[in-house]
Amino acid sequence: MVARSSSLGRRGPVASVALQRYSADMDNFNDTTSAASLLATRRSGKARDMVDPGPDPTQQRAILATAMRVPDHGKLAPWRFVTIAGDQRAALSAALEAAYVADTPDAGRLEREAARSFAVQAPWLVVVLSHPNPDSHIPLWEQQLSAGAATMQLCNAAHALGFVANWLTGWVTYSPAVSALLAIPGETIAGFVFIGSPGKPLDERPRPDFDAVVREWRG
Ligand SMILES: Cc1cc2nc3c(=O)[nH]c(=O)nc-3n(C[C@H](O)[C@H](O)[C@H](O)COP(=O)(O)O)c2cc1C
Repeated sequence: MVARSSSLGRRGPVASVALQRYSADMDNFNDTTSAASLLATRRSGKARDMVDPGPDPTQQRAILATAMRVPDHGKLAPWRFVTIAGDQRAALSAALEAAYVADTPDAGRLEREAARSFAVQAPWLVVVLSHPNPDSHIPLWEQQLSAGAATMQLCNAAHALGFVANWLTGWVTYSPAVSALLAIPGETIAGFVFIGSPGKPLDERPRPDFDAVVREWRG
């Protein structure tokens, strides 16, 4: 995915180092030239800007299979993926609006519209669930981390096939009514991952200062 950035300086040290190293084209995000360049230049798309094509059924299966290949202490597979088929998006959209109104009875027209439009963004939608095994000796936190890794891997897998992904949460993630629609008891929504092709050029977002987030332990 090629995109223009208004200012290289906004990229911050981490991304600029990566881009200098992996790409002669300094504006190349999600550079699939190599695995290293893809990871170093990864950039989410915005769900609301995504357009067709999305992944076809074979690609969808490949993306999901890749998402399952994550660190998982105890081999518990403590995550689940709920795919929303194209012909179910309108039904989910209506259900999300109803859930929003149930949670927020005084919701205004714009809020209702936002709730209704959420599920119909982008060509494809996958809901990732944390699905911990409460009887396991593996700590819950580790099982939840694995669900986060699976969500990230889902995004990376989509990017590797030339699509963009967007991991979103928001009220839909924390609404008991929405959880009842998508999860079984004991599961927690990790995120809504929208996948498609970018309808607009990607641009960089500020990145953390390398030295602010890396420190060396010296005993
Ligand atoms: C758990 C989680 C929840 C997120 N929820 C939202 C969200 O609701 N809205 C949003 O704009 N970005 C959200 N993000 C951030 C985006 O997924 C994305 O990472 C961010 O826009 C940065 O872009 P990048 O992925 O290219 O670094 C979330 C990220 C994580 C890890």
